[in-house]
Amino acid sequence: MHKKGFIFDLDGVIVDTAKYHFLAWKKLANSIGVDFSEVQNEQLKGVSRVRSLEKILAWGNKTLSDKAFTELMAQKNEGYLSYINKMDTSEILPDVSRVLDFLIENNQAIALGSASKNATPILKKVSLLEKFEAIVDGNDVSKAKPDPEVFLIGAQLLGMNPEDCIVFEDSVAGVQAANTANMISIGIGDKSVLHEADYVFKDFTEMSQEFIERLIKEKRT
Ligand code: BG6
Ligand code: MG
Repeated sequence: MHKKGFIFDLDGVIVDTAKYHFLAWKKLANSIGVDFSEVQNEQLKGVSRVRSLEKILAWGNKTLSDKAFTELMAQKNEGYLSYINKMDTSEILPDVSRVLDFLIENNQAIALGSASKNATPILKKVSLLEKFEAIVDGNDVSKAKPDPEVFLIGAQLLGMNPEDCIVFEDSVAGVQAANTANMISIGIGDKSVLHEADYVFKDFTEMSQEFIERLIKEKRT
């Protein structure tokens, strides 16, 4: 029997939480007199919370004490959680459930590999937590994507070799992390942005059952 490890990023792959990160960061940035646009928000995809605030402060030419920095981090997360708390299953991105269920029916190993420290509560809100055999999130890693740590831990928890794992990612840093881990990288989003991925799909609606079957059976050389 063929068995592979399928590792999913969360934000932008399973749920479209980028819009909530944007609203929370915008409110925070504006409160300290820094402009924040959707274009800048793109640059925060896959980036940790600490690094995101560092970038926003750099864009606004601001420096803060450690104490103020920590307070702003907490404030941002509070704002973000006010959106997350209202989430339900309607926010699962199209065909994510179809792909997850197909993998489960075919006895594949499934893990989450996310930079977010809010991954478990979000998966609970959209009732997908029980679909994952392993969860690796921002609480478990010391090195952020593009470092492969998050996906290597995921593979290990699934008991799979990295070369038998497939990663779904919407960020450039995440695709690079998967490639460095020697896993198959599948970009979800724009081909011109995610050109380093082995395959790119606009979203899961474009991913056929045949394609997934091939991933399951394919032996990498
Ligand atoms: C990533 C998001 O998945 O998680 C980033 O793409 C976010 O935008 C990062 O900053 C950390 O998330 P959180 O929930 O721990 O603030
Ligand atoms: Mg993402």
